[in-house]
Amino acid sequence: MNTPWVHIRDIPKHADAEVTVRGWVYNKRSSGKIQFLQLRDGTGTIQGVMVKKEVSPEAFETAKNLWIEASVAVTGKIRADERAPSGYELTVSDVECLQNPTEEYPIGKKEHGIDFLLDNRHLWLRTERQRAIMQIRDEVIWRCREFLRQEGFLLVDSPILSGAIGEGASGLFELDYFETQKAYLAQTGQLYAEAAAAAYGKVYCFGPTFRAEKSKTRRHLTEFWMIEPEVAFYDHEDNLRLQEQLVCYVMEHVLQTRKKELEVLERDISILEKIRAPFYRITYDEAVQKLHELGSDIQYGEDFGNDDETILTQEYDKPVFVECYPKKVKAFYMKEHPKNPDLVLCDDLLAPEGYGEIIGGSQREDDLERLLQRIQEEKLPEECYTWYLDLRRFGSFVHSGFGMGIERLVCWICGIHHVREAIPWPRTIYRLNP
Ligand code: 4AD
Ligand code: MG
Repeated sequence: MNTPWVHIRDIPKHADAEVTVRGWVYNKRSSGKIQFLQLRDGTGTIQGVMVKKEVSPEAFETAKNLWIEASVAVTGKIRADERAPSGYELTVSDVECLQNPTEEYPIGKKEHGIDFLLDNRHLWLRTERQRAIMQIRDEVIWRCREFLRQEGFLLVDSPILSGAIGEGASGLFELDYFETQKAYLAQTGQLYAEAAAAAYGKVYCFGPTFRAEKSKTRRHLTEFWMIEPEVAFYDHEDNLRLQEQLVCYVMEHVLQTRKKELEVLERDISILEKIRAPFYRITYDEAVQKLHELGSDIQYGEDFGNDDETILTQEYDKPVFVECYPKKVKAFYMKEHPKNPDLVLCDDLLAPEGYGEIIGGSQREDDLERLLQRIQEEKLPEECYTWYLDLRRFGSFVHSGFGMGIERLVCWICGIHHVREAIPWPRTIYRLNP
């Protein structure tokens, strides 16, 4: 076969040409004299039509014997066809079978339970729906990086293995680091991003983070990806503005470039089109009051539970910043509120439609004595934070930053129920495979 190999995505550029498509048979049917092969190659789908009297008997026989998900190289002429979903069909002249399964493909047309699908994640990823989600995830990550690059941020990656700890002592994955010490998997890159901000001004880190939390909610993974900008001389207000700009930028560009994928997911796009600055802003105090009105029994001073976030954000058509939580429920590094020492200068950005927290951010405590006191109050191992405290010893500076969970954002944009579908290989308490 000397015909050019083309990806299905590029087929419109080759109308009327004879080409070869390499991919998989995701479905097929036959009328005896004509075989219809539904082909996918990861970039798109196309129907191949094979007429018995126009091809060799061998080729027709090969096609007849193909099982679902056989890998193939199909040669034929591209023909514009208004009735075809992609606008094109392939008039097949030859089929080469690369590998034919010898058993039925496990993922069929019938409804499968979520556990079955997760056990078969390696195959489930091949479906059109999962492809749409992965493309949107890719777009989200790309646009985050693009925005930060345009805004003058420098990528400074943080380590995954660490001898120190981040958010607090709970929920850490611990492992033996050779014979001598324990290492922990990063819960956040923030502390390193703070050091990088003192070195380079506007920075971010982006990578996988780990939480050994036994949460079984639709929002929790034990391994998730977080993008964490940190900016020198930004205060709480500047921080909120940056979060709003980032989310709006990503949303605008996903809507521009991934409309087709959102349609595959049957996402109501009109809801997403309303996501524009300014977002709503309420204080923690106001949020608690609102929750009481909505029937929650949350006590003042507690952190919000998942149900609280769900009922609160069902009220909104745009993301809402909840600001200034009680110090008690937040991490040690957050800056004390100048007007109320029980509160901190922080925010959670909650996505609407019940999706809940997508960003956690704060102005950082830049006063050495107060930070030390917080580390002691939280009974954190002081010796691990020596280098972090140095940032308050050598040119301490007002600074702020935040972490945005990629899966939470993707989940909301895609309108899917559970974050496990927003990552290729989800890790939860009960799932480490595949
Ligand atoms: O609110 P968190 O814990 O904040 C931090 O880790 C800060 N150190 C970030 C910073 O200021 N640089 O987590 C930030 C975000 C959450 O808003 C959520 O989107 C996501 O990370 N996240 C999770 N996503 C999936 N599964 C989990 N278990 C998550 N925990 C947090
Ligand atoms: Mg948080």
